[in-house]
Amino acid sequence: MILSGKRILLIIGGGIAAYKSLDLIRRLRERGASVRAVMTSAAQEFVTPLSVGALTADRVFSDLFDRNDEHDIGHIRLSREADLLVVAPATADLMAKLANGHANDLASTVLLATDKKVLMAPAMNPRMWSHAATRRNRATLEKDGIAFVGPARGEMAESGEAGEGRMSEPLEIVAAIEMLLDAQPRPLSGKKIIVTSGPTHEPIDPVRYIANRSSGKQGHAIAAALAKLGADVRLVSGPVAIADPSGVKTVHVESAQEMRDAVEQLLPADAAVFVAAVADWRTENAAGEKIKKVADKGPPALQMVENPDILAGVGHHKQRPYLVVGFAAETQDVLKNAQAKLKKKGADFIVANDVSHEGGVMGGDRNRVRIVSKSDIDEWPDLTKEAVAERLADLIAKHLKTIEI
Ligand SMILES: Cc1cc2nc3c(=O)[nH]c(=O)nc-3n(C[C@H](O)[C@H](O)[C@H](O)COP(=O)(O)O)c2cc1C
Repeated sequence: MILSGKRILLIIGGGIAAYKSLDLIRRLRERGASVRAVMTSAAQEFVTPLSVGALTADRVFSDLFDRNDEHDIGHIRLSREADLLVVAPATADLMAKLANGHANDLASTVLLATDKKVLMAPAMNPRMWSHAATRRNRATLEKDGIAFVGPARGEMAESGEAGEGRMSEPLEIVAAIEMLLDAQPRPLSGKKIIVTSGPTHEPIDPVRYIANRSSGKQGHAIAAALAKLGADVRLVSGPVAIADPSGVKTVHVESAQEMRDAVEQLLPADAAVFVAAVADWRTENAAGEKIKKVADKGPPALQMVENPDILAGVGHHKQRPYLVVGFAAETQDVLKNAQAKLKKKGADFIVANDVSHEGGVMGGDRNRVRIVSKSDIDEWPDLTKEAVAERLADLIAKHLKTIEI
């Protein structure tokens, strides 16, 4: 638990999105963080110090000249006793103040006096957000080392307003906070890694396609685990029903040919992990129009052709990454097939999983794999897909480090 025992100083600015900071406090506290809040006087027009104090289980700070606090320089203490400062919502006004070094209330004084990392979650009307002054302030703050999460695009609280300026949702802010506070080593920082995930859809006609049962859970978990170790991850995902992992750049594709093109465009890379269940075949000529069901004519004969072998293509590519990892989903002779695949495809590792066993690896939440390399076969126990991803990310980090030496 990254947030356990961490102290967050939450500065609440005067915007409608202040109501979301109440939920943010709850989300942070349920993850073990303690939250202390500073409210601007405008913020108190939107939510009450009573609600904020009830949720933080602490008193709320708002007055720079509070006689009880300032005898021991309260604004410095607030910063000293925090691991991270979070401004949510960050108003245009608070951004302008910090970008220009103003300190005329408690919130701006704490922000100027701190030596801790600051995360801002801006929230404002889209025209305020796109104004040249706000853009200038944001650029200045980023140069000064302030981190940002959002804003997102969408409907605004004011009726009839939409665009970029919505405050990120509390859980997105929590994820950004965790990223900033996560002190774990980042052995993959500076490494570019391509990951493929999910199934491919091979069109028969504009409405029908050939697919498989891959959910993308394992590939997406691997992309997330590699990003957590600091890698610059480029995920090429077939059509899946799960969200893009955060901290990963995702390209969405449909067919095997599109996946191959997307992967080739991403080369060169330090490593590539091919988790996607790419269809082996596609129909030779997908119909441009929906194939009609005609009485007495029977079903159409689908002429199939082989799809490009993306793993073998990259395994033998002139820009071959240092490390190439393939997945082998087999239902019989898993090991024999994995070893043959390793050789044929020019891979360094094959992660072999027997997709025939009960419960169904494809679409399920657990996986039992064997890591096959030229010299070794390592059998891993039955694990969640996240745990398989973390182990594999560690293995990749270890391997890339060995190559560096
Ligand atoms: C109804 C209403 C909604 C507002 N919403 C926002 C907002 O979402 N973002 C923003 O930057 N300012 C918003 N403002 C303007 C700020 O409240 C105003 O700039 C204030 O001085 C900000 O003070 P602070 O930065 O000290 O919190 C809003 C004002 C009103 C009256």
